[in-house]
Amino acid sequence: MTYKIALIPGDGIGREVIPEGVRVLEALGRDFGFKLDFEPFDYSCQRYIEEGAMMPQDGIARLSRFDAIFLGAVGAPGVPDHVSLWGLLIPIRRSFDQYVNLRPVRLLPGVRSPLADRKAQEIDFVVVRENTEGEYSEIGGRLFEGTEREMAVQQSTFTRHGVDRVLRYAFELAGRRRGKLTSATKSNGIIHTMPYWDERVAEVAKSYAEVAVNQFHIDILCAHFVQHPDWFDVVVGSNLFGDILSDLGPACAGGIGIAPSANLNPEKRFPSMFEPVHGSAPDIAGKGIANPIATLWSAQMMLEFLGEAKAAAALMGAIERTCAERKTLTPDLGGSATTSQMTDAVMKEL
Ligand SMILES: NC(=O)c1ccc[n+]([C@@H]2O[C@H](COP(=O)([O-])OP(=O)(O)OC[C@H]3O[C@@H](n4cnc5c(N)ncnc54)[C@H](O)[C@@H]3O)[C@@H](O)[C@H]2O)c1
Repeated sequence: MTYKIALIPGDGIGREVIPEGVRVLEALGRDFGFKLDFEPFDYSCQRYIEEGAMMPQDGIARLSRFDAIFLGAVGAPGVPDHVSLWGLLIPIRRSFDQYVNLRPVRLLPGVRSPLADRKAQEIDFVVVRENTEGEYSEIGGRLFEGTEREMAVQQSTFTRHGVDRVLRYAFELAGRRRGKLTSATKSNGIIHTMPYWDERVAEVAKSYAEVAVNQFHIDILCAHFVQHPDWFDVVVGSNLFGDILSDLGPACAGGIGIAPSANLNPEKRFPSMFEPVHGSAPDIAGKGIANPIATLWSAQMMLEFLGEAKAAAALMGAIERTCAERKTLTPDLGGSATTSQMTDAVMKEL
């Protein structure tokens, strides 16, 4: 099999971790008998500074012929964050209908959780974030700008199509895992969209009798992530709630240097995109000390999605053993290894 992969290293440490991912993926291809045809794209804030756009006009069309997109991170000091988000990430997620944003949260053996005394098996859940609508919407605007009467309106959008399909994905995932689904809501304060979300959860749940469902308002759910991370198996949330939970979750499991994510079009009508949760980390960019695990774990999710289950399992095992050994770790995990030394250690474990 040959897979066509679009590479978007992006900015900052994205440019440092993506080459490490490519190195590991190529080694796995040699070992497990598949080929990866990588094509790099310069879509980034650097491109925005030089040419006035994060990507060319036909940027999405160019990406559409790939099996998957492997992205580092975008964002650079001096470029407003909404430019990089709305100029690249959101167009990719929406144009390719990547409606599931899947973010595993797992305390790896050897990684220290900031939560006292938590053992590896006690933190193992997946956040499923709705990735195309909800609170992240272009509908709205400003009125009377610059005057005392100025106002801003931002419209949230929850469609039955959009809500049901992400819920079904989450229920099915829970069915394949430990059979528990938690819904993030706020139907006490947000009185139109969130009660609607709850209604759809109750309706979709009828088709998944084997899955136990509960729900929490987002505020107490955040507290439970910290105090009872062992309660959770699959947690599903709207675009905004899922976004917040999927940084809080990894923070409980040792930091965002290890947190992976997948933006999935489950039906495979369009390319899916795999990227570490973290951003371009300008504070450590250029120092060669970014943790490559988030990127390698994202590469592992890409292999699983492409159907290379054995290679994916081998990579996960190598990541786990490298962390468990605690010999070669980057500074964020308490070690002094460089990005490429840590990748070397994972490759040695393969
Ligand atoms: N998906 C994306 O491309 C994405 C996601 C989040 C933020 N951003 C952008 O990145 C820029 C910086 O944002 P931020 O500082 O809020 O978040 P960030 O994730 O870049 O960094 C937060 C902190 O975590 C550390 N960190 C992140 N990744 C690490 C790694 N692999 N190894 C070790 N330490 C790591 C950083 O050094 C920093 O202290 C902004 O421009 C933001 O818009 C992009």
